[in-house]
Amino acid sequence: MTERTSIHGQWSSRLAFILAATGSAVGLGNIWKFPYIAGENGGGAFVLVYLLCVFFIGIPIMMAEVLIGRRGRQSPINTMRALAHEEHQHGIWQLIGWAGMVAGLLIISFYSVIAGWAVAYVFRTASGAFTGVTADGAASIFGGLVSDPERLLAWHTMFMAMTVVVVSRGVRSGLEKMVTVLMPILFLLLLLLVGYAMNSGKFMEGLEFLFAPDFSAITAGGILTAMGHAFFTLSLGMGAIMVYGSYLPKNVSITKVVVVVAIMDTVVALLAGMAIFPLVFANGLEPGAGPGLIFKTLPLAFGHMAGGTLFGTLFFILLTFAAWTSSISLIEPAVAWLVENRGIDRAKASTAVGGVAWLLGIVTIMSFNSWAFEFTFAGEAKSSGLFDVLDILTANIMLPLGGLAMAIFAGWYMSERSTMDELNLGDGLIYRGWRFLVRFIAPLAVVIVFLQLLGVIKV
Ligand code: TRP
Repeated sequence: MTERTSIHGQWSSRLAFILAATGSAVGLGNIWKFPYIAGENGGGAFVLVYLLCVFFIGIPIMMAEVLIGRRGRQSPINTMRALAHEEHQHGIWQLIGWAGMVAGLLIISFYSVIAGWAVAYVFRTASGAFTGVTADGAASIFGGLVSDPERLLAWHTMFMAMTVVVVSRGVRSGLEKMVTVLMPILFLLLLLLVGYAMNSGKFMEGLEFLFAPDFSAITAGGILTAMGHAFFTLSLGMGAIMVYGSYLPKNVSITKVVVVVAIMDTVVALLAGMAIFPLVFANGLEPGAGPGLIFKTLPLAFGHMAGGTLFGTLFFILLTFAAWTSSISLIEPAVAWLVENRGIDRAKASTAVGGVAWLLGIVTIMSFNSWAFEFTFAGEAKSSGLFDVLDILTANIMLPLGGLAMAIFAGWYMSERSTMDELNLGDGLIYRGWRFLVRFIAPLAVVIVFLQLLGVIKV
């Protein structure tokens, strides 16, 4: 086989890929979503299921997704078509690419609205609005923001424009430099917040909530949410990691980079949880407060610590950057496909994709005010209407199904020779272990979670 190259360029080094993939993985999912869904689902048992999913489903599928991308060297749609052909399989496999592109569009549509909250909080915090704030005060500032569609639209528009600008310039020049500097600072700020939480008086309660599993607190829907979140937080199942893999130099070890990315992603999420829950308990707040959780609790820390206005402003700036480096990967598969198949340049392609996603974002904007409604999904109470529907549809259904299909393709439909060549581990224990996980454990786990949700089996 002749070696393919990507027309969109290549990462300059192994480190560049690690940074870009970590940039994609670490985002709102870790700092905003993980704490609020852990809170809604009773903590410890949910966190345990999530961790198990990251290690036994997420890591093997991430390796599969990167190896497929690097072998195909094109947008996910064209990569799947090329590999299916090369492995003498049916062309239907390119459906993975199409479904992923749709999932990416749906996700970026709400992701950008939430990222807009982070941008809004940069200015709110900088203005000193949180100095000495009470829990009620912080909640009402948040309520004021989300009940105002015009403000939400303005911030959403700004964030989407930021995403389009970077994607237009190409992921390499646009992205690589940004992540190198910002990731470490975000990490330090999270440590600072955990340090603050340690002195909140309720640190142990927070840890217990996060790490002591109480299996009576988790529902079928909670287990699905934990698994879905493993996909969401690692950016798996829709082609984002596949397209990043397509820019990965051939000599880099996929196993090593994937493990590094998964560990960093998990550490950031756990640190966010350790910063937030002690504050929740110290202030008598509700762990199940929903999507507003971090926006109601973190201002309490920034409002009362020395230098809080400065640190708080910096924190929301970095959260915005973390969301930015993630949102880029959500539209890259669609942009790469438009460039390959429609022959238009990156700037036009990103503007078109960003435009569609921007319009769709209005659904999420209205979900927190005029169009809000409540419903129950598999034992979980939801109160943000169509936003929750979009979230469940993408994170809990489309991503696991996409990941399942990728695992089956890499494990059962690609020849052993191809995957062994791409992973470059020889025929040793690690390769065998990966193949076993990707053929049996990961697919079975996904199927079991779906079956227990449908009530076919009880676990
Ligand atoms: N992983 C990112 C986060 O946790 C979100 C994200 C970026 C994503 N690209 C993705 C989620 C692709 C699913 C699929 O914030």
